[in-house]
Amino acid sequence: MGLRSPLCPPLSVLHILSLLLALSTDLSTADYLKIPLLHRNPFQSLSAALSADVRRLSFLCRRPELPVTSGAPLGSGQYLVDLRIGTPPQRLLLVADTGSDLVWVSCSACHNCSNHVPESAFFARHSATFSPHHCFDSACRLVPHPKHVPCNHTRLHSPCRYEYLYIDGSSTSGFFSIETTTFNTSSGSEVKHRGLKFGCGFRSSGPSLSGPSFNGAHGVMGLGLGPISMPSQLGRRFGDRFSYCLMDYTLSPPPTSYLMIGGASNGVVSGKLISYTPLQINPLSPTFYYIGIQSVTVGGVKLPISPSVWAIDELGNGGTVVDSGTTLTFLAEPAYDKILTAFKRRVKLPKPALPTLGFDLCFNVSGVSRPSLPRMRFKLVGGSVFTPPPRNYFLDTADGIKCLALQPVTLPSGFSVIGNLMQQGFLFEFDKNRSRLGFSRHGCAIP
Ligand SMILES: *[C@@H]1O[C@H](CO)[C@@H](O)[C@H](O)[C@H]1NC(C)=O
Ligand SMILES: *[C@@H]1O[C@H](CO)[C@@H](O)[C@H](O)[C@H]1NC(C)=O
Ligand SMILES: *[C@@H]1O[C@H](CO)[C@@H](O)[C@H](O)[C@H]1NC(C)=O
Ligand SMILES: *[C@@H]1O[C@H](CO)[C@@H](O)[C@H](O)[C@H]1NC(C)=O
Ligand SMILES: *[C@@H]1O[C@H](CO)[C@@H](O)[C@H](O)[C@H]1NC(C)=O
Repeated sequence: MGLRSPLCPPLSVLHILSLLLALSTDLSTADYLKIPLLHRNPFQSLSAALSADVRRLSFLCRRPELPVTSGAPLGSGQYLVDLRIGTPPQRLLLVADTGSDLVWVSCSACHNCSNHVPESAFFARHSATFSPHHCFDSACRLVPHPKHVPCNHTRLHSPCRYEYLYIDGSSTSGFFSIETTTFNTSSGSEVKHRGLKFGCGFRSSGPSLSGPSFNGAHGVMGLGLGPISMPSQLGRRFGDRFSYCLMDYTLSPPPTSYLMIGGASNGVVSGKLISYTPLQINPLSPTFYYIGIQSVTVGGVKLPISPSVWAIDELGNGGTVVDSGTTLTFLAEPAYDKILTAFKRRVKLPKPALPTLGFDLCFNVSGVSRPSLPRMRFKLVGGSVFTPPPRNYFLDTADGIKCLALQPVTLPSGFSVIGNLMQQGFLFEFDKNRSRLGFSRHGCAIP
């Protein structure tokens, strides 16, 4: 994916002039934008997604990898956003990632290529509104560049080259470009946004951008706090906030939900039903949504975890980020150990005959009609309490086997991550304007 076919000529600058016309939007009538959010394969083997997850975050964790069940249907542990881009619109599925900023799609320079598969990539030459930024444009300074390519600003055809790295070393590179996107609004009508800055990716590599974890995706929609993320670009007009519900994708039929640019309080959920916690600032990591954990209880008992375990240190290490692009939840090791001990002590269910590789605590519930699992609560800075249901942290790894879906992270270099499984069934509102994260058990049923 993302590799240029030898049959295809290199892409040249199409029409830089259209860039000058491209900065207005037709968004003025919309309250908020609705983008469908889906899960590619509800009947997947989770272990494939999880092993990619652990590879992605392996630098954080003491175990290098999880096994992949061979022969199992492979799928992705990711949530995908259904984006319409180009003129006429092309439909692409992008991983929704609050842990990065760049919006990019896998691009093809093919034009009328007989062997091209529609919806397999973005066909830039089939769009009347596609235009790469020139390397001398101010917008080009928003992205990191490959080292060896200097900008010759007297050359007309000198596209802005980007190279964007993810924390596991995965990377995407190509031309930083501008395009028109089409959205549905709250009132069900389509509107166009003419100035999306995005990466037209010709090359991508690394564990989180290839193989089963990326199966079905054509790129990544960065939803982070940085200036080039999707919500930052649509920004002000929609109150600098967005929200989503990540639905439980083991349900059948798989439920649909939406990424809503413009936030949850737009009539979707009454403000009173949303709990908030302030976003924590880490100047060394301007992309991530950090929240502060104050304490954890398991089965109503507060665990003796020092507050320093959750803190961001002066080097920018530690802390807790909310990441839609990671499946499992990773917790600082001292906290993880206390939580693991608490579950071991409180749950009196039979253990499976064999351990499940990659998980420290599993139960065999096949002979138990209604297995009772203790509630875990996170008390957050500001006093709100996040109480996920046990299905958000006990994963069915095999028929009748439930495993505690937490992983330890080594301090001081690592940081804790609230992954997408832990977020399931809650509406999350990322409010940059008021620097807070909202969450609610209500609001996910609304289409
Ligand atoms: C490409 O396709 C368009 C529309 O189908 C057609 O008008 C055009 O002539 C084709 N160009 C080439 C070079 O085949
Ligand atoms: C920049 O491009 C111009 C026009 O193509 C060319 O004449 C010039 O030699 C180039 N400069 C460098 C440093 O490559
Ligand atoms: C908007 O919603 C309608 C009806 O659900 C759908 O047919 C259309 O494809 C959507 N458009 C976009 C841009 O998502
Ligand atoms: C952004 O926040 C400020 C104060 O924090 C508030 O006055 C303003 O109305 C907010 N803007 C939007 C669009 O919500
Ligand atoms: C789980 O327990 C059942 C009996 O309740 C047993 O038949 C089965 O083999 C056990 N499975 C594992 C993996 O231990």
